[in-house]
Amino acid sequence: MSTTRTQVAIMGAGPSGLLLGQLLHKAGIDAVIVDRVSGDYVLGRIRAGILEQVCIDLMDEAGVGERMHQEGLIHHGIEMLFDGQRHRVDLHKWSGGQQVMVYGQTEVTRDVMAARAAAGLTTIYEAKNTAVHDFDTARPYVTYEKDGVKHRIDCDFIAGCDGFHGVCRASAPRSAIKEYEKVYPFGWLGLMSDTPPVNDELIYVNSPRGFALCSQRSRTRSRYYLQVPLTHHVEDWSDDAFWQELKLRLDEKGRADLVTGPSLEKSIAPLRSFVTEPMRFGRMFLAGDAAHIVPPTGAKGLNLAATDVKYLFDALREYYQDKSEAGIDGYSQKCLGRVWRAERFSWWFTQLMHRFPDDGEIVAKFQHAELEYLMYSEAGQRTIAENYVGLPLDFASQRLM
Ligand code: APR
Ligand code: PHB
Repeated sequence: MSTTRTQVAIMGAGPSGLLLGQLLHKAGIDAVIVDRVSGDYVLGRIRAGILEQVCIDLMDEAGVGERMHQEGLIHHGIEMLFDGQRHRVDLHKWSGGQQVMVYGQTEVTRDVMAARAAAGLTTIYEAKNTAVHDFDTARPYVTYEKDGVKHRIDCDFIAGCDGFHGVCRASAPRSAIKEYEKVYPFGWLGLMSDTPPVNDELIYVNSPRGFALCSQRSRTRSRYYLQVPLTHHVEDWSDDAFWQELKLRLDEKGRADLVTGPSLEKSIAPLRSFVTEPMRFGRMFLAGDAAHIVPPTGAKGLNLAATDVKYLFDALREYYQDKSEAGIDGYSQKCLGRVWRAERFSWWFTQLMHRFPDDGEIVAKFQHAELEYLMYSEAGQRTIAENYVGLPLDFASQRLM
């Protein structure tokens, strides 16, 4: 067994782990990242592509925002399509001048990976049998195997950035953890293509045939989604079948404007709401998908991960630089406030836009009435806009009396 030492052992080289690693490096705090898959595998995963300001700011703080600012597209609104009609929600107007940026999570990951490699920092990929130990003591450590050799990393803290299926949350004592979960009875079939997007802004579609989303990665690359039953397999969806079905869920203008082409990627993702409480166990912290999952309606996943990483980084910096444990002690509670707000919005937006198999026609009528109300009312527009761009970090202190 070879033993090394670092200050923070980061489990998981997804966006959470990589961003945390980069921020710690800039602050002079030593960290090692361990992942069970390869870097190429991480870059092959296609996820959402909408960045809130909090995520944009964190990329800048980590010093990896250059390409994002060059290539990211600023969006000031989204469109909602129901009953064959499109309605625009002016995010900028109703959120007090905010916006979102279209920039793929894969690109975020690529940029942080490149910065990490350029700085010569260690990421251990394809680590087997990763495990976390003694995080309830002052001397936690991590073990793994690589090329048949056992390794141990002694550390001050463990950052559990290892996603929903990771080892960190699974290692927390069952008596100390509470998990909340809702699994949705459908999935999203996604298709990426090098075709110009059907619309300048995203279109969220509530149609009698189910939900659809027209998203994009750039002016020449589109990302589309269809709600499909969980029993469907991606192999059974030809590109043609996908485009046909998307057209059926769009309006006439959409059908006319849609440019189809061969898929670069196609996959089905299940939808889940999931939260772990707390997010800290002694000297181990959970961040990102390791602690919570949102259904993708509203694209909150990466943005929530970014907030966790920001709070965790601030807490660790306070610990090392100011010798204060206040940030560490407040980490879980601070994160969970924002987590539940985003969970609520993602769940609400999901149930507003999808057809649920057990719901009768009456629920479609309720959805329609609610959508009509939201589009008519200034309060409705604001509800969508301020949640979509991300509620403020100091939300609780801004309560109306
Ligand atoms: N040991 C080490 N690494 C692990 C282990 C393990 N036992 N299990 C999983 N991992 C790695 C995965 O291989 C993956 O690379 O942890 C990483 C977790 O990355 P993500 O799943 O991308 O999670 P996170 O970095 O928190 O990113 C959150 O991803 O799913 C989206 O919506 C979500 O956009 C959000 C973002
Ligand atoms: C995406 O572009 O993949 C995307 C955009 C918005 C969402 C979900 C996914 O709400």
